[in-house]
Amino acid sequence: MKTLKAVAVAAIVVIALGVVAGIITWVVLSQRNPPLPPPELKPLDWWEHCALYQIYPRSFKDSDGDGIGDLQGIISELEHFKDAGVDAIWMSPIFESPMVDFGYDISNFYEIHYEYGTMEDFEELLAKAHGLGIRVLLDFVPNHASTESEYFIKSVAMEEGYEDYFIWADALPDPNNASNRLPPSNWVSQFGGSAWEWNEQRQQYYLHQFAIEQADFNFRNQAVRDEMFNIMEFWLDKGADGFRVDALPYLIEADPADHNGSYPDDPLSGLIQFEPHQLGYTIPLYTKDLIELYEIVYEWREFVDKYLKDNGGDTRVLFSEGYANVTMTMLYYGNEEGEIGAHFPFNFDFVTDLSAKSNARDFVYIILRWLTYMPYGGVANWVFGNHDNNRMPTRFRENMVDGLNALNMLLPGVAVTYQGEEIGMRDGYVSWEDTVDVEACNRGDPDTYHLYSRDPARTPYHWNDSMNAGFSTANRTWLPVAEDYPEINLAKQKASERSHFKVYQSLTAIRDSPTLSHGEYDIRALSDRTLYLVRYLRASDTLVLLFNVGERPDSVVLSRVPHLTLPATVYVSSIHSSRVNGDRIDGETLTLAAGEMVVLTAAPVS
Ligand code: FRU
Ligand code: MG
Ligand code: CA
Repeated sequence: MKTLKAVAVAAIVVIALGVVAGIITWVVLSQRNPPLPPPELKPLDWWEHCALYQIYPRSFKDSDGDGIGDLQGIISELEHFKDAGVDAIWMSPIFESPMVDFGYDISNFYEIHYEYGTMEDFEELLAKAHGLGIRVLLDFVPNHASTESEYFIKSVAMEEGYEDYFIWADALPDPNNASNRLPPSNWVSQFGGSAWEWNEQRQQYYLHQFAIEQADFNFRNQAVRDEMFNIMEFWLDKGADGFRVDALPYLIEADPADHNGSYPDDPLSGLIQFEPHQLGYTIPLYTKDLIELYEIVYEWREFVDKYLKDNGGDTRVLFSEGYANVTMTMLYYGNEEGEIGAHFPFNFDFVTDLSAKSNARDFVYIILRWLTYMPYGGVANWVFGNHDNNRMPTRFRENMVDGLNALNMLLPGVAVTYQGEEIGMRDGYVSWEDTVDVEACNRGDPDTYHLYSRDPARTPYHWNDSMNAGFSTANRTWLPVAEDYPEINLAKQKASERSHFKVYQSLTAIRDSPTLSHGEYDIRALSDRTLYLVRYLRASDTLVLLFNVGERPDSVVLSRVPHLTLPATVYVSSIHSSRVNGDRIDGETLTLAAGEMVVLTAAPVS
């Protein structure tokens, strides 16, 4: 009896314990694994994840047959941006200009240049672009004005209020020759030669960090600073969505007040290949990246933010341009004191620090540098080319076009495209006779001009394989059309089953995915040749870019890619890839041809 009772008690205890254990396990497990709801996504402002496209208006589309691109030409092709999946455009300067530096020498900041059209054309462009949901940014060129501008003419004449609009300085005596005069300092212009030019009428030198015809404004003069607000306000009132802001590192130079009344010489670089009139002879200590310039940028940010507050509507943005080291570049975002500047400074690292010679480790290192130095909460951006640099497929290799466009579209932040990158346009050949770029003409000669010329990146856009690549009906275009247009043009790429343009379209199309707009990133080199970029976000498909930037095939082990669960699916791949969209990827290794990229979609991380 006793044993029976004991057995029964033991059984009850065991059952009870089992039930309790079961309950505990259930409670613990259910707490550990509740099906997590999708993460809450902070709504993004329109610009924070946009695909931004730079138009070089002179070379985009000519509507009136004069061989020069114009606003009506852009209007006629606005659909291209919808088609390509672009959200915003920025246009190199369209303002009245003698065209010494093709619009970067502005003679009237409030007028449209006649070759490009009229104010009505601009208003039409804005209205139509906005109608299509495309934002329009203008190029704001604050550092200098054309010597044909009213400002300069009045300053030369010492008209009241304009005396100090520019940087004027007396000549220095020449100790070796009393009848000679010398410029105030050894400063060298970006386009070569002294940065000082003598003005007969005023009997003084004026400063020009760029061409002789581009006189530097005096930003220590409040009247100049006020005028910049007026210019911005004018175009914001017209409806512009913001500005790309030009050449900021050169905004301010050393003040003679801090140097015993004279302009201090820049230190010599000691590089013996340069002569005194050549860029590189000096180190731009007193002419570039001066700390005072940032205060001006912060003022501009305050101005556009106030404009938004006063006028409503959507955010007006400032995207700043300047080639500088990473520390000076990051200051454009803002400083540690909490002052804020540009919405972002353009990131030129792909242009200045990476090339056909870079390996996968270089790519990862340079990409992470930006993301590492960027201040908390900053929006990244990626630039692959512009009107000042050789085109992307020329600087890298042609088989890398799709991979580079994929990096652009899959990295966090804003993707910037220079016109033609979506179809893989290469540099055009421009002979010395046809060369018009002031930098090439000033710094080069028939043997060396190609080292400086920006014309090859500015040849007209290739719309189709008809005359002048469909750019213009003129007998002669302002720059020659590149010879490869029958092979590389938009119409052909739209018609073919696989093309750079189609890859570009696929890439812009997935930018709406929360994984790309809000997800985390992980980027690493798997070898010298291949890198991965993983974008992941709970409850949203993981996206993995594998890109062989090398010149030989490479096999990579997929288990080394974090957050990638197999099988995965090919979302898009380079035009020369053996894989096609929809292919299932389930092997241990994946072999990528030289330059090949694949973008895979895989199950979300949990
Ligand atoms: C960018 C740039 C150049 C131009 C210069 C001066 O560096 O836009 O294209 O020549 O600034 O405005
Ligand atoms: Mg025209
Ligand atoms: Ca300046």
